[in-house]
Amino acid sequence: MTKAPIKIAVTGAAGQIAYSLLFRIASGEMLGRDQPIILNLLDMPQCREVLKGVHMELEDCSYPLLKEMHLFSDVEAVFEEVDLAILVGAKPRGPGMERKDLMQENAKHFVGQGKALNKGAKKDAVVFVVGNPCNTNCLVAMHHAPNLKKEHFFAMTQLDYNRAKYQLAQKAGCDLNEVEDLVIWGNHSSTQVPDIVNTKIKGKPIETVIQDREWLETTFMDMVQKRGATVIAARGKSSAASAANAIIDAIKNIHSSHHPFSSGVYSQGNPYGIDENLIFSFPLLSHGVGKYEIRKQFQFDPFLEKKIHLTETELKEEREMVAHLLKS
Ligand code: NAD
Ligand code: LMR
Repeated sequence: MTKAPIKIAVTGAAGQIAYSLLFRIASGEMLGRDQPIILNLLDMPQCREVLKGVHMELEDCSYPLLKEMHLFSDVEAVFEEVDLAILVGAKPRGPGMERKDLMQENAKHFVGQGKALNKGAKKDAVVFVVGNPCNTNCLVAMHHAPNLKKEHFFAMTQLDYNRAKYQLAQKAGCDLNEVEDLVIWGNHSSTQVPDIVNTKIKGKPIETVIQDREWLETTFMDMVQKRGATVIAARGKSSAASAANAIIDAIKNIHSSHHPFSSGVYSQGNPYGIDENLIFSFPLLSHGVGKYEIRKQFQFDPFLEKKIHLTETELKEEREMVAHLLKS
């Protein structure tokens, strides 16, 4: 029997991430080769012509699963009855900037997006925030969408996870799928914490396989925390194809059952004593769309504890920076 279409809104649809993302979504790579899709694409009015070009190219692919496409320049209508909203639309940082330097420019847009989601989206819609600073933007959107489920809001740390996994597999000389229980904790920023304590490689504790704690604490940690900036320095633009790839991975993870992954989620009721009103990246186990549990078994050594405290503090500071957007 043919499945009912899933309606997906993508913001920033004329941008560089979207250009690597939309074609993969429309091909069925993200939600399955038997899942019909409707795409609602939003970008700023000044990007209308570019958006039309993207629309034409999507048409020209003749994707059988792509049943409808609609273009929007106005946030009010784009989320009407959507099942999934992927919020990419936001300014990227340039060389020498931290992601939180984008806060004043970007976070305010997530007020309107949150309100529009609240009004138009299905009550069990999943909202996936990519635009930076993504954790705090997600907090702002969630705050303004009280009709939606808080546990259906996600901020992307999948790209950090993928980066970390690759580096560990390279160092250990193993397959990627032999790196398990990897966690990205905290903020998608240079304070994020790739877990160097609980990860297992080939089923063994990481420190018995990579017997170089100095490398793990400095070279590896720094590399993952600063990878976004390193890509910007090299390319002159922030990562796009790898970001789109991470979106596909993350949405698949959210929809899978019994699948461990890391993502920024609402911290209320978390088992690690993290402040209760943040979007914080935790180890998750999915039980299907929007139904996840925060995995409880991970232990912090003093190094990890200090680093996790730092990323939590940064997220609290970011929340202070947007306190005016979290009223009403
Ligand atoms: P881009 O500049 O190429 O595209 C962004 C698009 O969003 C532009 O077309 C712009 O017009 C549009 N836009 C901006 N504000 C908007 C709004 N309020 N509503 C609708 N559209 C809007 O940038 P990009 O490279 O595609 O990156 C987009 C965002 O994703 C940036 O903030 C970037 O930092 C972030 N990012 C996050 C991750 C992550 O891992 N979380 C990874 C890569 C990039
Ligand atoms: C990334 O991690 O590549 C993105 O968040 C873009 C950036 O600003 O680093």
